[in-house]
Amino acid sequence: MTTEGQDWVSVDAYFVDALVGTDPLRARIRKANTAAGLPPHDVSPLQGRFLSLLVKAIGARRILEIGTLGGVSASWMAEALPPEGRVISLEASPDYAALARRNLDQAGLGDRVEICVGPALDTLARLAREGGPAFDLVFIDADKPNNPAYLDWALKLTRPGGLIIGDNVVRSGAVLDANSDDDRVRGVRTFTETLGREPRLFSTALQTVGEKGWDGMTLSVVEP
Ligand code: DHB
Ligand code: MG
Repeated sequence: MTTEGQDWVSVDAYFVDALVGTDPLRARIRKANTAAGLPPHDVSPLQGRFLSLLVKAIGARRILEIGTLGGVSASWMAEALPPEGRVISLEASPDYAALARRNLDQAGLGDRVEICVGPALDTLARLAREGGPAFDLVFIDADKPNNPAYLDWALKLTRPGGLIIGDNVVRSGAVLDANSDDDRVRGVRTFTETLGREPRLFSTALQTVGEKGWDGMTLSVVEP
């Protein structure tokens, strides 16, 4: 991070203190995740709070998350749901899924989050086959090379007026490299360019700085 990066972190801390307050729930989850050696890829407190805010703003009841990791983002979204709301969260790693399960149970959010273990593309195909109610919000936050395929499924599974969010689309500017041989960058660029071309979506991107460095999310609403 640049010297400016020091300021991003302090500004994050200022807003967390003023707007979010102490957060024992996430502190506990982060501690468990660090102890288990999970990669530090969780959303920051302000980003998590932003996800909570979107859940409340659209009155979401059914959320699909692709990529559970240790359950931090699921906790932010689940917390913002009404009691009958559900997060269906997909996780490829059985170890991560078990840890997330424990974290969410301990946080008292266990009955609002269903974790599906296995390759997300398999679970997405199953969800589509089962034909359950459409999702109000989809948060795509897993392996970036598969982002274009995740978007195809998200389009099938999200209700009109619903939101599709893509995490980590900036990666310190890596997204600019049109000739990148990094599959993650290629995945995010194809994903982004599909969002732009897709007539059923109305999309923007939000760059973020703060304790997670320089990154960003795409936000798309499914046209009614
Ligand atoms: C990475 C993945 C994430 O989902 C994230 O939020 C941050 C980093 C990564 O793979 O580096
Ligand atoms: Mg992410």
